[in-house]
Amino acid sequence: MQKLIINGGTRLKGKVKIGGSKNAVLPIAVAAAILGDSVSVLHNVPNLTDVKTLSAVLEGLGASITRKNGSLYIEPINRMEYEAPYELVRQMRASIYVLGPLVAKLGKAKVSFPGGCAIGPRPVDLHIRGLEQLGANVDVKKGYIYAQAERLVGVDMDLTGQHGPSVGATANVLMAATLAEGTTVIRGAAREPHISDLVKFLNAMGADIDGIGTSVLTIRGVKQMHGTEHSVVSDDIEAGTFMVAGAITDGDVFVEGITQKQIPAISEKLTEAGVQLDWKTTGVHVTVPKELKAIDVTTVPFPGFPTDMQAQMMGLLSLASGTSTITENVHTDRFIHAAELNRMGADIRLEGRKAIIQGVPFLSGAPVMASDLRAGAVLVMAGMAAAGETTVSRIYHIDRGYESIETKLNNLGADIVRVNEN
Ligand code: UD1
Repeated sequence: MQKLIINGGTRLKGKVKIGGSKNAVLPIAVAAAILGDSVSVLHNVPNLTDVKTLSAVLEGLGASITRKNGSLYIEPINRMEYEAPYELVRQMRASIYVLGPLVAKLGKAKVSFPGGCAIGPRPVDLHIRGLEQLGANVDVKKGYIYAQAERLVGVDMDLTGQHGPSVGATANVLMAATLAEGTTVIRGAAREPHISDLVKFLNAMGADIDGIGTSVLTIRGVKQMHGTEHSVVSDDIEAGTFMVAGAITDGDVFVEGITQKQIPAISEKLTEAGVQLDWKTTGVHVTVPKELKAIDVTTVPFPGFPTDMQAQMMGLLSLASGTSTITENVHTDRFIHAAELNRMGADIRLEGRKAIIQGVPFLSGAPVMASDLRAGAVLVMAGMAAAGETTVSRIYHIDRGYESIETKLNNLGADIVRVNEN
């Protein structure tokens, strides 16, 4: 295992280029590998552990995937494998994305039931409900989900769950519906930028989907889909994280490759907290002219403030003047990082789904541990802002979603080294 050693206290300065979106590339690669019948080429693909794990799942199903200069060449499955085993699915919940496309293409699927994780229980009832509505028989036995259907048939459904729309269920059911007979309408669809990128990709493969970017997707089933070439949309959360990195170090950073339209709520909340954002056509210039101000943040599905930026925002607000609150409405147990930030001198109190953050004048370096991807990211942010040395362990969580985070930050002037843990 590896850890990051951060020597805090430097102001970040310069330009950082945002990579392709992890959450877009995962379903897109699944669609390319399972739904297509010829090679697809994906450009702007981040080099992340999650992409490698997904590639292993798809290769296990018979696809062939090659990576060259930031592009993935995906040759679709060419045999009747329909099982995604526990050893792979347990490493990454998004492996469940193969469920719908496999049933649509091969008529059956066997996918290990994904477990919970450090951010709380993460059920897949909506994925199952959506596929059942398309006519699949779904059974959960001995830790596996079995789905079967001679032919999926389009239907008008509402996929809204108790926490609102689901990104994963929308992607899964949407992909399955592309090859279903007749028309499917998904109401309560997730509207995240990565879902829109998936819709674009599927249409380029020959699917027939209307309603991109809205909560109602209409999918007219087609018989066959072909490979295509696509450049993956930039990562909204990586962009937001680097904007926080600039702000928390009182830096002067240009975050390149992001538009305000992709991150409306992140932009709004950072501005409200006193971060100056100067938008240009190629990205955004981030500075903090005066002191940071306390604000209230509530996480909700897009276009609201994303849960995947909640931890990073908590780190920033730890250093704002006054009392901020963060209410987590999407992943209800996603607050483990609060205790780690407190070890660095933050003053955060939890009350159920709400975190109350009393701003402190400074943070101090400490040994801390990443409990999940974004919780890991905030510890790196806090470490850069803190006085002295911070070591962040269990950084395999961070590598799942940030390509070489320390290289990008060091290029902006941070002082971070990656070492092997003994
Ligand atoms: C995706 C993202 C993740 C992000 C999350 C919310 C990927 C690979 N991951 O995860 O980074 O934090 O969206 O933006 O894109 N739910 C149910 N039943 C279901 C499915 C979900 O109740 O069948 C609930 C979840 O527990 C959660 C909420 O719906 O409370 C939203 O989850 P969802 O959007 O599905 O998250 P993921 O797709 O797992």
